[in-house]
Formats: sequence, structure tokens, C-alpha cells
Amino acid sequence: MRQERRTGRILLLGGTSEIGHEILRALDAPAGCEVILAGRDESRMAELGAALPYTVRTVPYDATDLDSHQRLVDDLFAAGPVDLVVSAAGVLTPQAELDADPRAAGTLIETNLTGHVTTLLAAVPHLRAQGRGLIVVLSSVAAVRPRKANFVYGAAKAGLDAFARGLADSLHGSGVRVLLVRPGFVIGRMTAGMPPAPAATTAPEVGAAVAAAVAAGAGTVWVPRTLGPVSALFHLIPRPLWRRLRR
Ligand SMILES: NC(=O)c1ccc[n+]([C@@H]2O[C@H](COP(=O)([O-])OP(=O)(O)OC[C@H]3O[C@@H](n4cnc5c(N)ncnc54)[C@H](OP(=O)(O)O)[C@@H]3O)[C@@H](O)[C@H]2O)c1
Repeated sequence: MRQERRTGRILLLGGTSEIGHEILRALDAPAGCEVILAGRDESRMAELGAALPYTVRTVPYDATDLDSHQRLVDDLFAAGPVDLVVSAAGVLTPQAELDADPRAAGTLIETNLTGHVTTLLAAVPHLRAQGRGLIVVLSSVAAVRPRKANFVYGAAKAGLDAFARGLADSLHGSGVRVLLVRPGFVIGRMTAGMPPAPAATTAPEVGAAVAAAVAAGAGTVWVPRTLGPVSALFHLIPRPLWRRLRR
């Protein structure tokens, strides 16, 4: 039985995330497991938490409140070991809105990149001291090559993806692992109103793929799996053609 099957405490950063909750469901962790939902929307977290087959508690977490992350993480680990951290906070603000409001672009970068960095780096010494644990990072196919249709989101995900890969290497041999998740278009709350992209997937499919990757001890998972080899071809597309992509 692998280390993650012993999971006793799970921290979901982005406590209302659809994908995050599907990961929790698919993991099929032991019934006595405690799940900590960390997020902004207390009542929604309580509602979603009530549907989970675990002991659930909620804590306030704002990914953009960078000064609060060290204290929050220290307090959570002071209450006991954390076996799994799922870093799922994110926003997908339309590029046109960001073009018109550069401060909103800054908030997107803070939410999708900087907040993950400050929170996870605060957790790393605790995880190292435990000598075990798993960090699941929600990257995206958008990290692979920037598209003009969402290049600020792509920039944040590229940074987060690089951070997660470097973190995985820095933790090698410590007993702590990183699982990097790269979904394509996921039909759901974040993409509501957008026409699905080719090879679109769903949050339950992402949850199942992550659970399988955790069980297999994988370091990276693409959802759907075919997106890995397909995205490798993105770099072969000449830039004049790439910039014609409308989405
Ligand atoms: N959906 C997709 O197509 C897709 C594809 C690839 C990767 N991803 C990534 O997967 C992750 C989860 O996405 P999802 O599909 O589950 O979307 P979701 O249901 O909209 O979840 C996003 C989560 O981020 C939280 N969040 C946003 N801003 C925050 C802030 N300032 N502080 C704390 N939490 C904040 C949201 O909380 P509130 O309820 O407070 O807003 C929500 O819990 C994201 O990182 C996303 O970029 C999604």
C-alpha cells in the first residue's frame, strides 16, 4: 500500500474548486481522514464539505493575501501532519478584461502563480520535517505555449508549471513528492459560457486521472492523456500560424 493510501489530513487550497472536490472524491481516502478546505467562500465550502465522506473543516484563505500564507500554513501543520496538499486556486479572467485593466492582470498572476508559491514554500519545511507528503499542483495545457487569447493566464500557468517542476526536483529524496496536473479544457464553472475546446474533459475525469496518478506514484499527469503528445507538437507550429489561433 502506498504512502498516499495512509492519508490522514488533506489540505485543499481553493476550497470550492470543482476539480479539487472531484480529486477528493476520487482519492477514496480513509473514512477517518480530515479534509481542510481553505478558501474565500465560507458558506459554499461548508455546503460542499457536507457532501464529502470525510471530517471537514474550513479555514479562510485568500491566494492574493500573500502576507497571510506563512501563518496559515504554520497553524495548520501545528495541529498535525498534512499528508496531501492540493493547490487548486485559480481564476480565468477573459483576456479582453485584463487588457483593459492591468491591475486585474496582476491579481490573476497573484492568484494563479504567486499565491501558490508563497503557500507551498511555507508548507515545504513542514513536509520535509514530516519526511512524507504529496503536493498536487493544478497547472494547465495553457502552460505549454502562450496563446494571444489568454496569454496572461498562460504566463501564470507557465510560471506555476516551472515552479512545480523545480520544486519536485528540490524535494527529490526527501520523501515528499509533487504531482503536476496538466488538464486541457475542463467543462465546468471556470469555463462556463465558453464553447468546449477539442479534447475537452470534465472535473470527474480529472479527479479520476489524478487519483490514478497518485496511486501510480506519477510525477505528471495530462488530462486527457493524449494531450501530452499532442501538446508536444504545439512547438512545431510556426509562429505566424500560431498567432492566428482565435482561442
Ligand atoms: N477548468 C478548466 O478548464 C481548467 C483547466 C486547466 C487547469 N485548471 C486549473 O485547475 C484549478 C481548479 O480549477 P476549477 O476548474 O476547479 O475551477 P473553479 O471551480 O472555478 O475553482 C477555482 C478555485 O479557485 C479559488 N480562488 C479563486 N481566486 C481565489 C483567491 N484569491 N483566493 C483563494 N481561492 C481563490 C475559487 O474560490 P472562490 O469560490 O472563492 O472563487 C475556487 O475554489 C485552477 O488552478 C485552474 O486554473 C482549470
